[in-house]
Amino acid sequence: MLASALAMDKVMSKHVFAQAGIASPAYVALRRGDQVDFTAVTSRLGPKTVVKPANEGSAIGVTISHTPDELPAAVEEAFRYDESVLVEQFVSGVEVTVGIIGNDELRVLPTLEIVPEHEFYDYDSKYIPGMSRHIIPARVSEEARAECQRLSLEAHSALGCRGMSRSDTIVDEAGRIWLLEVNTIPGMTATSLLPDAARADGLEFPALCDLLIELALEARR
Ligand SMILES: Nc1ncnc2c1ncn2[C@@H]1O[C@H](COP(=O)(O)OP(=O)(O)O)[C@@H](O)[C@H]1O
Ligand SMILES: [Mg+2]
Repeated sequence: MLASALAMDKVMSKHVFAQAGIASPAYVALRRGDQVDFTAVTSRLGPKTVVKPANEGSAIGVTISHTPDELPAAVEEAFRYDESVLVEQFVSGVEVTVGIIGNDELRVLPTLEIVPEHEFYDYDSKYIPGMSRHIIPARVSEEARAECQRLSLEAHSALGCRGMSRSDTIVDEAGRIWLLEVNTIPGMTATSLLPDAARADGLEFPALCDLLIELALEARR
């Protein structure tokens, strides 16, 4: 419960990640009604940023602001969904997601690279078949894959997740890994990521569902 509440709030998550020593993109947190100094935000984060409501999911209200002049509209859009908004430094690289399954003994799923048809992994990419490709394992170095898995495990534990989680990361050109977020209730649709990674690990969807139910019951005992 606390894990989901923490993970749902992208600003709160950032505090937990920082405490755990997990790198996450630089950001500025805004509250509705703040007098925003856009010049200061840009000089801190660089010209290209990603603006997100703190508490949404499915990329709802998320906008990439390519240049500083796009920033005010992007911020206004995010405030339609939440009174707390995050402006993040844009990190270019390969998007890699890692699923974790388990309560005490944790099973780390293979890395999955997301290749969206659109500019980023937006709502359509997530839910419309064919709008994104899933590549397993991710096309990054062996070391980067292992590091994505290690960081996802660490983030899972730092947030106190139970049962499952799925961490979204970006591997940049220098091979550095940035944690975007941890999903405590990852998508489980036909186009979703965790079921695909589980399948690649020998866990078909019905077996995955059985396992998750078992883990949820076990966690309550
Ligand atoms: N800092 C960033 N740099 C580059 N792309 C990003 C960044 N943050 C988010 N994105 C893109 O936006 C998508 C949605 O962002 P995310 O933080 O995962 O929110 P959501 O909870 O809506 O999935 C990501 O999957 C990624 O494609
Ligand atoms: Mg996400």
